[in-house]
Amino acid sequence: MIVSLKTILGMAEATNTAVGAFNITTLEGLRAVIAAAEELNQPVIIQFANAAHKGFISLEMIGAIMMDFADKAKVPVCVHLDHGADLDEVKRALDLGFSGIMYDGSALPYAENVANTRAAVELAAQYGASVEAEIGSLGREEFASAGGTGEEEELEGCYTDPEQAAQFVRDTGVDALACSFGTVHGIYLKAPKLDIDRVARIRQATGIPVVMHGGSGISDEDFVKCIQNGVRKINFYTYAAKYAGDYVKEKLNAESGNVYFHDIATWGMESMKKTYIDTIRVFSNLK
Ligand code: 13P
Repeated sequence: MIVSLKTILGMAEATNTAVGAFNITTLEGLRAVIAAAEELNQPVIIQFANAAHKGFISLEMIGAIMMDFADKAKVPVCVHLDHGADLDEVKRALDLGFSGIMYDGSALPYAENVANTRAAVELAAQYGASVEAEIGSLGREEFASAGGTGEEEELEGCYTDPEQAAQFVRDTGVDALACSFGTVHGIYLKAPKLDIDRVARIRQATGIPVVMHGGSGISDEDFVKCIQNGVRKINFYTYAAKYAGDYVKEKLNAESGNVYFHDIATWGMESMKKTYIDTIRVFSNLK
């Protein structure tokens, strides 16, 4: 069943949990996410990061399949655009039926980010979809999983300012806010130190769900602290993909006979499903 971003985040709010937002790059990854969410009977967000992953598959090709899976799923599913680069890309996702979009103007000057985000909110409203935007910078490791280095930057200077975040929400009317408080995308080279107090202050100042990007590599303990302080959507992909790659390598090394591509795809899917089950358990506070 397809639901909007606002609806699914409302469910998380009601249960004081976070919804996992998993990037989709292949059919196997999509099947793994939906199977994990259905097995645990939890809502889930499937998202496509066009800017990072269009080299693997196009928005239109994977988007149509994501919509079909979401429609038929036994649990509530939001189909979301991750890091929408501009209004054209946002419109392409909305035309496919996506029920949530992120417009990411975080690298722009404040006034330009506000103007573009507001235009995205107005556009999404025509489709009944909701909007995530970003203020503060998550650093340029955003797309490390698509080939960057994943090296951690000194980011504290770019952390989201709670007062500016509150002003941004008033200026734009967004439904959820991606914030910078110590996470980066991709692989961490040293353990991340999260500014949890900042999460609480942003949440209090804005009154809307906070989104954590760069969920891979965060400890279960930190996930729980962030959720307790207002994080309602957690973006997570790199480690699911990496663990699946590691598992496929292991299987290949152990196999002396023929290996067919469908074997590799199936191993990858099994591994990803396991990772997503473990992850959703933590986000949903399941034992
Ligand atoms: P990871 O790369 O840490 O899994 O985060 C994914 C993400 O934030 C996508 O926007």
